[in-house]
Amino acid sequence: MTGVRVGVIGAGYVGLTTAVCLAERGHPTVCVDVDAGRVEHLNRGTPLLDEPGLPLLLRQGLDAQTLRFSADYTDLADRDLVFICVPTPSRFDGSADLSAVEAAVAELASLLPSAAVLVLKSTVPVGTTRWLARRLKPTGLRVVSNPEFLRESHAIYDFQHPDRVVIGADDDAAAEMVAAVYGASAPTLRMSPESAELAKYASNAFLAVKISYTNSLARLCAGVGADIGDVTRCMGADVRIGQHFLQPGPGWGGSCLPKDTAALLHTGRLAGVELPEVESARCTNAAQPARIVSTLSRTMATPLAHARVAVLGLTFKAGTSDVRDSPALTICAELGRTGAQITGYDPRLEQIDQAALRRASIVAVDDPYLAAKDADAVVVLTEWPEFCDLNWPLIAEQSPAAVVLDTRNLLDPASLADTGLTYLGNGMPSGY
Ligand code: NAD
Ligand code: UGA
Repeated sequence: MTGVRVGVIGAGYVGLTTAVCLAERGHPTVCVDVDAGRVEHLNRGTPLLDEPGLPLLLRQGLDAQTLRFSADYTDLADRDLVFICVPTPSRFDGSADLSAVEAAVAELASLLPSAAVLVLKSTVPVGTTRWLARRLKPTGLRVVSNPEFLRESHAIYDFQHPDRVVIGADDDAAAEMVAAVYGASAPTLRMSPESAELAKYASNAFLAVKISYTNSLARLCAGVGADIGDVTRCMGADVRIGQHFLQPGPGWGGSCLPKDTAALLHTGRLAGVELPEVESARCTNAAQPARIVSTLSRTMATPLAHARVAVLGLTFKAGTSDVRDSPALTICAELGRTGAQITGYDPRLEQIDQAALRRASIVAVDDPYLAAKDADAVVVLTEWPEFCDLNWPLIAEQSPAAVVLDTRNLLDPASLADTGLTYLGNGMPSGY
């Protein structure tokens, strides 16, 4: 089905991806964002997000005039389907802040034709779709839940090759309109709005639980002389467990797993249901910075208060310049409180929000060798593959006493040991 007039609200990771991909499928698409500067850049073909495939799709959509960006909601007045992709950050009590969703809906309510369908792609608490549908009943507008499961750094690929497209709706015609824009071959799961909303949180929380369990096992491995790589290799070979999300690290972060686990717990509290697995996954995650700080203080020759710590990797995972809720920054902030001097390097340094780095006590430098020079410790916090290709013998020459703490188990322990540096892998027999 081509030719459905699509509107998208919010031109961030989810909205921009949705807009360029639906425009590519032939749907005339208008994407509205409150940030006029962002709109201007996007209309000029500047992708703003470093997502593989995005620059090409953006250019193609603009050139074919199937895609345009606007800061003016009235440009959506003739739309058939409008995808809401605005942020839903955490409030102080863990609940999701729906003010951007509400602002978008308030604009659309008085604007859209009554046959139009609103599609909630933002991650929202159970009950939001039905609550909005009730509120919009007098306008005739229908509301469908269609949570998004894309990963940052794979956004375009994931949107184009989804594991599942979830459509939560009571209204069959509205659900079919949404299903049709994804195409007949998309693996579509129909359910109630409540199930769709909860399925999104449940999925993210399950991923968080899986990683926290791996991080706890890594700690146990180091304590009993086992190797987490071998343990997870065995676990992952069981198809019932699956090999993904078994990689130990400095803790899970990013703009969604932390906020979505908090929101799920909040929903549980409102319903009088405890979710101890999720609670515990968050506790394990919160303990990761202290685990790294105590390892450094135990293994470095210099006391932390006088130490120079070089940090490699600042983003919340490799392949992105996003530092929102990055474990790397949380760890640096904790190290900074000990008095340690922190020098940080990241391959995407130029695109990273510099104020966030300053708040985490990081002196950022654009050269990994400069960051590691005269360091008492070199801590790998993001799994950028290029860190494997660094000239580690040179780093050893410049910082012979450095402890290399590899939170992601990225580097080759044998090559590191050959340089004379002290190598500590995460969950390894001679690691931490
Ligand atoms: P983002 O911060 O990257 O982008 C949001 C955009 O919305 C910004 O450009 C902002 O200017 C704009 N905006 C804010 N309020 C607006 C309004 N009232 N009207 C129009 N535009 C407005 O956000 P994101 O990462 O794309 O996340 C959006 C939603 O999708 C969240 O609920 C998030 O949990 C969910 N989600 C995100 C991802 C991800 O990987 N980032 C994946 C799945 C789901
Ligand atoms: C996550 C989910 O994977 C997406 O399916 C979901 O749509 C999205 O959140 C969302 O709702 O926003 P993303 O935030 O891009 O995607 O990041 P992930 O790839 O899931 O990684 C999250 C964190 O876990 C990162 O800090 C990463 O380094 C860490 N991680 C991941 C590990 O420590 N070990 C692993 O094995 C996997």
